[in-house]
Amino acid sequence: MDVKPIPGLEHLPFAEVWLCEPDEALWREASAAGRAIGKEGLEVWTTDETPEVVSFLEERGYEIVRRYRITELDVAAADPGPPALPLTTFAARPDLAEELYEIACEAYPDQPGRREQRMSPFEVWRSWGLDPHPADAYFIALDAERVLGYGYLEVDGDTARHGFMAIRREARGRGIAGAIKRAQIAYAKACGIRSLRTATELRLTSMLSLNERLGYRPLYTEIVLRGTAAA
Ligand SMILES: CC(C)(COP(=O)(O)OP(=O)(O)OC[C@H]1O[C@@H](n2cnc3c(N)ncnc32)[C@H](O)[C@@H]1OP(=O)(O)O)[C@@H](O)C(=O)NCCC(=O)NCCS
Repeated sequence: MDVKPIPGLEHLPFAEVWLCEPDEALWREASAAGRAIGKEGLEVWTTDETPEVVSFLEERGYEIVRRYRITELDVAAADPGPPALPLTTFAARPDLAEELYEIACEAYPDQPGRREQRMSPFEVWRSWGLDPHPADAYFIALDAERVLGYGYLEVDGDTARHGFMAIRREARGRGIAGAIKRAQIAYAKACGIRSLRTATELRLTSMLSLNERLGYRPLYTEIVLRGTAAA
């Protein structure tokens, strides 16, 4: 069982763990492991395929704090049309790393339920949020020379996942995320990627409906609960 501080939320008094069955002994084991790393509470991940875990935890005072719909696109069947805006990539513009970081710092805590997120320093962020991802699939929206947003793909053989998408606050609601998503789908088609997965918090209704319009099919929903660790 992997019980650890929550990435980006390490300062909170919760340890992160997955529970796939409503098992008192497992919950107590997770609680003890959490307390051993100084956490009084647990942030438990499960899915809507195991609703009995949700009720087990709710009976113990836990509350749902976030939910992510996991959807998947059959890339060959998708026909999203071209991006409505011109985009560049990190491969073409490696000089933009610091501006991307500036947007990341603004956007990570803006995610629903992640208000308390603290960003790692630039060099640490780039080691997980920039450099490991294919630079030619790291799409960037520019207005003249000002970066407005970015989105990347995590590619694994012939499948890929949408990584984080971040748009500058002042530039949201203008279709930039939609343009980046269409560029990502076009990239996947050109590279022979079979399927694209995405995880979208249920409060991001515009992104949920965009995914639906583009042909992403729901697979399941991840559910995140917080509560006190067993004594
Ligand atoms: C979530 C986020 C990336 C969206 O970016 P954005 O550029 O504002 O999104 P868009 O304007 O492209 O809107 C997405 C789509 O929803 C549509 N849309 C916008 N408002 C809508 C509404 N109220 N209802 C339905 N659809 C709506 C847009 O038209 C667009 O679709 P289109 O491309 O077919 O035109 C941005 O708000 C952000 O950076 N948030 C903080 C970080 C975050 O939560 N990231 C997680 C992303 S999964």
